[in-house]
Amino acid sequence: MRRGSVLQLVGLAAVAAVITTLVAVLIPWLPEAASTESGRIHFVYWFTTGIAIAVFSIVVAVLAYSVLHFRARPDDDSDGPPTHGHTRLEIVWTAIPTVLVTAISIVSAIVLAQNGRAGSDPLIVKVKAQQFAWAFTYPNGQSYGSLTLPMDRHVKFEITSNDVIHSFWVPQFSQKQDAVPGQTNTIVVTPRHLGRFPVVCTELCGLGHALMRSHVDVVSPAKFASFMKSGGKTAGPPGLAVFQQNGCASCHTFRPAGATGKIGPDLDDLHAAAAKANRGPVEKFVEESIVDPAAYIAPGFTDVMPHIFKSQIQPAQLTQLVKYLSQGAKQ
Ligand code: CUA
Repeated sequence: MRRGSVLQLVGLAAVAAVITTLVAVLIPWLPEAASTESGRIHFVYWFTTGIAIAVFSIVVAVLAYSVLHFRARPDDDSDGPPTHGHTRLEIVWTAIPTVLVTAISIVSAIVLAQNGRAGSDPLIVKVKAQQFAWAFTYPNGQSYGSLTLPMDRHVKFEITSNDVIHSFWVPQFSQKQDAVPGQTNTIVVTPRHLGRFPVVCTELCGLGHALMRSHVDVVSPAKFASFMKSGGKTAGPPGLAVFQQNGCASCHTFRPAGATGKIGPDLDDLHAAAAKANRGPVEKFVEESIVDPAAYIAPGFTDVMPHIFKSQIQPAQLTQLVKYLSQGAKQ
């Protein structure tokens, strides 16, 4: 091969590499890596991207060079010269990708193994998914509708579901894990940035899937200790906590709770609805609608409310919730 041709090939490859690298680096493809595990996952991503850019640049350079130098002239109808492979070239283009793919798999396996390690004293948080809310239970028995995590400590999530398959995802933690009924799946997360990040359901699980969201607050270890000690009580009436823990806000609008869900009836209009339904006093109507949602379906709606609250909400909590809703709605 002539020196000029080699220089031309190298030049084309360099141009392709620079353009692709700019696209990879200048566009923020990934959210911030807010956990140690996601930092490792991002490393694998960039390792793979680097290899991909190199391969892409070489292929594009050879392709462009061939188009420039070997294309048929408009008046050339003759056949090309017969060729019979090139053994050395074929060995090279098989060996190099084999090495690269093996390298990717080794790096991935190391990261997977490291990310599975929870250390000797992880904080265990039980994650329960249900249509359409998350419940997070801490070792002290307290449950919340959102997560609070200490920075720099291994957290082991034990994830399951009450009804259908959901999937637990915090984009800034880079890991997704399915929530499957009758099964416990785990992931380990070690938060390393303070802040609030979204918790997203990332498996189509029904009408309220898009609204099945919560958040995680990563706080300092000292703040977390006092949160655990105080029991992390939510400010406001006790019924509000029950409302939040059971994910009512995903589907219902209720102004006192700042809820804006649109899948179920607007709970601000509870009293008018109760009068229209004509099923006894408001409190009785509200309680029936929670424990036996199919008993009366509001006009314009279907039987989509989960039938799990009868067993899920303790009697004392149910009383608080019924009182909270009945008193907070428009009279
Ligand atoms: Cu739960 Cu989608």
